[in-house]
Amino acid sequence: MAVIVTCIGAALAGLLLVRIFSAKKNRVIMTLDQKHIFITGASSGIGLATAKQALLEGAFVTISARNPAKLSQAVDELVKDTNCNKEKIRLQVADVSHRESITSAVQESFKWKPIDVLICNAGVTRGGYFDEVPIEDQEMTVNTNLLVYAVWK
Ligand SMILES: NC(=O)c1ccc[n+]([C@@H]2O[C@H](COP(=O)([O-])OP(=O)(O)OC[C@H]3O[C@@H](n4cnc5c(N)ncnc54)[C@H](OP(=O)(O)O)[C@@H]3O)[C@@H](O)[C@H]2O)c1
Repeated sequence: MAVIVTCIGAALAGLLLVRIFSAKKNRVIMTLDQKHIFITGASSGIGLATAKQALLEGAFVTISARNPAKLSQAVDELVKDTNCNKEKIRLQVADVSHRESITSAVQESFKWKPIDVLICNAGVTRGGYFDEVPIEDQEMTVNTNLLVYAVWK
């Protein structure tokens, strides 16, 4: 009886170890090659630089921001600088401070290709003393930088 219980115990422990190791493996992305990276605030600065690097590493990217003209320019710059196929870049107009806008943007992009990495980079800064910054600017900064809207329904 003791032998049977020991064997079952050992088998369960083995299964648990296999589960732990395989789960860890699934969570780590070893390469960006062929992965789909969705980047908010990617028409300039850090977001654009991140998109460039992801393309150089073989990824598909969705670049997202509010201004469509800036996004189009960014696509041209990415193609020129990385020499990648334009088909690897998707442009998505969206405002991260509006729940419906960013939610539908992510869902649309997911239809193009399932998203492997979502980089929430978009952000704004407004300088000045707290009591001197207009309330509209404070609201816009909080809505853009701090509210974590659920983008999944
Ligand atoms: N640069 C730094 O030294 C530094 C230091 C610390 C932290 N950060 C943070 O890093 C992030 C990127 O900074 P950055 O210097 O690269 O900024 P950036 O060059 O000003 O670019 C900001 C990007 O975010 C987009 N954006 C702004 N508001 C948005 C909104 N409501 N919805 C969607 N997109 C929006 C802008 O495009 P549209 O205007 O067309 O939407 C643009 O593509 C920010 O969160 C910033 O606070 C930067």
